[in-house]
Amino acid sequence: TWPFYAGFALAYLLGSIPFGLVLTRLAGLGDIRSIGSGNIGATNVLRTGNKKLAAATLILDGAKGAVAVLIAWQFGPDMAVLAAAGAILGHCFPVWLRFKGGKGVATTVGTWLALSWPVGLIVCASWLVVAAVTRYSSLAALIALALAPVAAWHFEGPQFAELGAFIAVLVWIRHHENIRRLLRGQEGRISFGGSKNK
Ligand code: G3P
Repeated sequence: TWPFYAGFALAYLLGSIPFGLVLTRLAGLGDIRSIGSGNIGATNVLRTGNKKLAAATLILDGAKGAVAVLIAWQFGPDMAVLAAAGAILGHCFPVWLRFKGGKGVATTVGTWLALSWPVGLIVCASWLVVAAVTRYSSLAALIALALAPVAAWHFEGPQFAELGAFIAVLVWIRHHENIRRLLRGQEGRISFGGSKNK
């Protein structure tokens, strides 16, 4: 079992690189955790008004999940599923930030695209549709990631569906403040011009 522990640990470390925090710091925008929602993800980087930086955060946070899965895949599907969980947990609970990380959306999308492209495509498409209609990034993520286990069951089977359910629960818990704001009608909307709201 030790290769599994090692694979999980490596995926966790890869996932724990906080690209949003690093990129905004390098760009001289200060600490992203003191802006907007305080989250280190692409949505909050968009609130700085820097669209390119937000796109880079989205791509890099997604890529670390995809890379973890693609490397792990060489050792079989069990290892790939474990690596996906490891990378997402690394993003949400990075040791470098005293375990206070992001909400796991971009990294989850990256892992799905690498694990199963039909599931990845469904997640991306549903995120885009909900975000375009409502302009709530959080709501789009909550719906898209809740659909993932259903899509995974259909296209891949129970093991991937279990992973999808585990990730959906994790990501919903990470969004508890967003859910509260959504219910109160206080959630900030995103615009591709960059949102200044919470
Ligand atoms: O990816 C996280 C997104 O769903 C919500 O981000 O900054 O609005 O809490 P934020």
